[in-house]
Amino acid sequence: MAVTSIIGAQWGDEGKGRIVDYLATDADVVIRYQGGDNAGHTVVNEYGKFALHIIPSGIFNKKATSIVGVGAVVNFDTMKQELDGIPKELHKNLLVDVRAHLIMPYHCLLDGAEESKRSDHDKIGTTKRGIGPCYSDKAARIGIRVGELLDPAGLKAHIQNILPKKNRELEYYGLKTFTVDELMDKCIAWKNMFGSHIADTLPIVRKAVDAKKKIVLEGQLGIMRDLDWGIYPYTTSSNPTSGGAANVSGIAPNAITEIIGVAKAYSTSVGGGPFTAELFDEDGKKLREIGAEFGATTGRPRRCGWLDAVALDYSSYLNGFTSIAVTKLDVLDSFEEIKVCEAYDLNGKITKYLPDTKGQEEAKPVFKTFKGWKTDTTGCRRFEDLPKEAQEYVKAIGEYAHCKVSYVSVGPERDQIIIL
Ligand code: GDP
Ligand code: IMO
Ligand code: MG
Repeated sequence: MAVTSIIGAQWGDEGKGRIVDYLATDADVVIRYQGGDNAGHTVVNEYGKFALHIIPSGIFNKKATSIVGVGAVVNFDTMKQELDGIPKELHKNLLVDVRAHLIMPYHCLLDGAEESKRSDHDKIGTTKRGIGPCYSDKAARIGIRVGELLDPAGLKAHIQNILPKKNRELEYYGLKTFTVDELMDKCIAWKNMFGSHIADTLPIVRKAVDAKKKIVLEGQLGIMRDLDWGIYPYTTSSNPTSGGAANVSGIAPNAITEIIGVAKAYSTSVGGGPFTAELFDEDGKKLREIGAEFGATTGRPRRCGWLDAVALDYSSYLNGFTSIAVTKLDVLDSFEEIKVCEAYDLNGKITKYLPDTKGQEEAKPVFKTFKGWKTDTTGCRRFEDLPKEAQEYVKAIGEYAHCKVSYVSVGPERDQIIIL
C-alpha cells in the first residue's frame, strides 16, 4: 500500500480536503502534518458538509487513525468547537502528537496586533489564528508543546518562565496580559477535554509504514505561501511542500510513494502579496461567484485569476509531483474562453521562470487562450465523458505540471470525481 502526500499546488484552497476525504475512505492513517486552524478544508460526504480547520479530513473513516502531527500548531478551543460538529462515533481515532505546539491565547492576540501595525502594502492578511506567533515561539524554543499538558507541574514552571516575555510583548501592543493561573486553568481544561487523544504517534506511524498500510498525508495551504519558497513575507509560517511533509510526518522521504499536487483549474489567493494572474474584470467576478470563492475560515472573498502555469511549473519542480489532481473543472463550464498565464512579462522580458516576491509584484501575465466547452461536466465520471475541449484543457494542465493527471474533480461531492 502507498504513502500518499497531498500537497496544495498553488495558494491554498485548491480542494485538498475534498481529495483527502476521497482517498481516506480506505486509508489506515491520515496525518495532518503542519499548519493549524488557519486551514479550511471543505469535505462533503454522507455525514454532511464540513469545513475542517485542524481535524484531519480522514476523521470520517471510522477505521482510520487521524493524527494531528508533529509539525502542526493546535488551538484546543477551536478543535473542541470543530469536534462538537462531527458525529461522536467518529471521535475515538483522533490523536494529537505530543510534539505539536499549543496555540496559546496570547498568540492569537499578538497575530492580530502585529498585522494591524503593518502598512496596507505590507499586510499579510493572516487568518489571525495565532499561527505566526506560535511558530515564532517554536523556532525561538519557548513554545509549549501539546505533551506538556500531561505534566501540569512542569507546564506551570514553563509558563512561569516564559510569561514575563509574552506579557511584555502584549503590553507593547497595549493588549491584555495573562496570569500564570489563567493560562494554567485553560491548559487543565484542555487536558481534561483532550488528554486521552494526546500521544507520541511515531510508533503508530512507524508500525503502519512497516506493515505497508495506506497512509495519507494532508497538507495545509499551498506552496505559494510556503515559508521558504512562497511569496515571503506574505506566507504562512510552516512548510506546505512535499519536503515539509516528509520532515514532520515521521515518514522518511523515500518511503513516500506518491506526491499528488492538488491544482485548481484556475487560481485563487486569500490575503496579501503578489498574485500575477489575478483578474479584476467580469471573468474574475464570475469565477468567484460560480466557484463560491469565499474563505472557509474567514469568509473573505478570495482573489481569483486564471490558471498560472508559471507557478504550477515551479510548484511541480519543487514538490516533485508524481501526479496532480485537477479540481473545480466544472467552474469553467460556462466560459466561452479560458485563459492560462503561460509566461510573465518582466519589464519587457518574457520568462517562464517564477521570480521571487518582488519580481512577482512587477510581473504582468502573458495569457494563452483555450476554447471553452460550454457543457455541464458535473455528471462526468470518466475522462471520455468530458467534452473534447475540457479533455484538452486537462491534458494541457498535466503538461504545465510535467506529470500525469490522476484525478479530475467536477464537483464538491465525494463521488464527483474522475479517476484517470
Ligand atoms: P482546501 O483548503 O484545499 O481543502 O480547499 P477549500 O475547502 O478551502 O476550498 C475548496 C472549495 O471548493 C470548497 O468549497 C469545496 O467544497 C469546493 N470544491 C472542491 N472541489 C470542487 C469541485 O471539483 N467543483 C466545485 N464546484 N467545487 C469544489
Ligand atoms: P487551506 O489549508 C488559503 C493565508 C492567509 C495569509 C497567509 C498567512 O485551507 O488551504 P496565517 O494565518 O497562516 O499566518 O496567514 O496565508 N492562508 C491561507 N490561504 N488557504 C489556507 O489554508 C490558508 N491559511 C493561511 O490568508 O495571507
Ligand atoms: Mg481552504
